Amino acid sequence: MSQDIYLTGITTTGTPHIGNYVGAIAPGIAASKDVTKKNYYFLADYHALAKNENPDNISRSTLEIAAAWMALGLDTQHATFYRQSDIPEIPQLMWFLTSVTAKGLMNRAHSYKAAVQANLETGNSDPDKGISMALYSYPVLMAADILMFRATKVPVGRDQKQHVEMARDIAQRFNHHFGDLLVLPEAVIDDNTATLAGLDGRKMSKSYNNTIPVFAPEKKLRKLIMKIKTNSLEPGEPKDPSDSTLFDIYKAFATPAETEAMAARYADGIAWGEMKQTLFEYINEHIKPARQEYERLIADPASVEAELKKGAERAREVAVPYLNELKHAVGIRTLGKT
Ligand code: TRP
Repeated sequence: MSQDIYLTGITTTGTPHIGNYVGAIAPGIAASKDVTKKNYYFLADYHALAKNENPDNISRSTLEIAAAWMALGLDTQHATFYRQSDIPEIPQLMWFLTSVTAKGLMNRAHSYKAAVQANLETGNSDPDKGISMALYSYPVLMAADILMFRATKVPVGRDQKQHVEMARDIAQRFNHHFGDLLVLPEAVIDDNTATLAGLDGRKMSKSYNNTIPVFAPEKKLRKLIMKIKTNSLEPGEPKDPSDSTLFDIYKAFATPAETEAMAARYADGIAWGEMKQTLFEYINEHIKPARQEYERLIADPASVEAELKKGAERAREVAVPYLNELKHAVGIRTLGKT
């Protein structure tokens, strides 16, 4: 059995928040330090275009997300860290894949179906209103991201599982036509870190505007934590850790022993105000050194750019020769050569 290759992408929309940190950044960074594993991490800026973001926001988000991963200790010597748009072979591969992808398969994508459903619910006569080809073809681009680097394991949130399965279907179809050239990937879903709630108790997400940015300045961080929704139990009344956003966030950062100790304080009826203060201090201490480095990187975008370019160079050492092989297989060849 050959070695597994891990690959995951982060769409460059928004500022990295604690939900991203817990769900993707922290496990990704831990994995980047495991020298027995081969890892690719990339900024999916072409995917951001499908979300109709404002151009300045995409660019800012690319800087913030790259700086966050770097500041939090991503090992870029070992893991390959790059920006999707620096690898022209990815959209080229996407076109090869597009030519073997059944339109019917794309009709079944959850993301597309949700957009159609939203149109129907608002009584639109055109179910495809406002739906771009980029949104529709989103899973094919994602398949190209994955297949370009022969990834076998793709760590993603539950909402992306179907996309990884589609990448697998598309690869099979390609192989059926052109020979056994693409490697079939598999989604890896970590249920422990699945979803963190935000300020209002719903899933922490940019779309709900309820996030806590990882690198919010100290004062802002405190203010946001003080806003997290709790129930109306009084100090001294026992509280249920399994129904508390504050507890979930604490748990995401704390050690198992600390988490257990906190559960005991819940049973003893810790006051919400005290819990909020404790949580703030804990996260702030945890994040402080990285925050300084983050601020330094944000003020020096050229150094982030240079790191991404280095990563792209390494990624292309794989992508360029592989794409040439795939090109040949589909019939795009230098004339006069076999
Ligand atoms: N679509 C993913 C998301 O929104 C991001 C992404 C793009 C991705 N390409 C990928 C994830 C390839 C894993 C593999 O979360």
